[in-house]
Amino acid sequence: MGLYASFIFPRLMDWILGGERFHTERRRLLASAHGLVLEIGFGTGLNLPHYPPSITALHTVEPASLLPDRVARRVAGAPFPVHLHQLGAEGLPFDDGLFDYAISTFTLCTIPDPAKALREVRRVLKPEGRFLFLEHGRSDDPSIARWQDRLNPMQQVVACGCHLNRRIDHLVVQAGFRLEQLDQYTLPSIPRIGGEMYRGQACTTGIPT
Ligand SMILES: C[S@@+](CC[C@H](N)C(=O)[O-])C[C@H]1O[C@@H](n2cnc3c(N)ncnc32)[C@H](O)[C@@H]1O
Repeated sequence: MGLYASFIFPRLMDWILGGERFHTERRRLLASAHGLVLEIGFGTGLNLPHYPPSITALHTVEPASLLPDRVARRVAGAPFPVHLHQLGAEGLPFDDGLFDYAISTFTLCTIPDPAKALREVRRVLKPEGRFLFLEHGRSDDPSIARWQDRLNPMQQVVACGCHLNRRIDHLVVQAGFRLEQLDQYTLPSIPRIGGEMYRGQACTTGIPT
């Protein structure tokens, strides 16, 4: 990893995604989580303070080593056991049907093979488990979506693999989940190419296409 990816980008990401507005979004998403939880793309651990006390333990997967001291401090402050696994979500080292909840925030944009990762997430969830996601993605507005397509190659360079134009709801459904809830909205004060949000809850009983 170069200096930008290992030093500058993680700090930028932690600062931007750690803003007050995002704390509110994270807290709201995670309010219903309980039991044994998996988080994919843990990043710098910004979700940790927002998990409710009903969590019994958290397993995280994250291929990069981002701001390890900051992550260690956040993990040490968690009121439940946190187990960090340094790997990508496309191959999860867990048995089938293990987790009560799986979480992805601002990560499906970046995972190189999100379809494979989501199939893995579905595999490791209990049949009655739930997948909660909070992601930015492709706009329903064709003129914005065209700009997302145009700027996507540049975004992948400046934001270390992030795609602007992924249709998050389609990816979730194609992996065999059934959407129980989907809110699409635009974040204020963020350029629309990066502020078209998908927040949702999915259960495991969909039909893979
Ligand atoms: C924009 S950051 C979001 C971090 C964190 N989820 C948050 O909400 O602050 C995207 C994260 O996805 C991680 N990532 C990249 N490839 C991945 C993969 N194959 N599996 C899981 N996470 C991955 C990146 O390292 C990065 O931490």
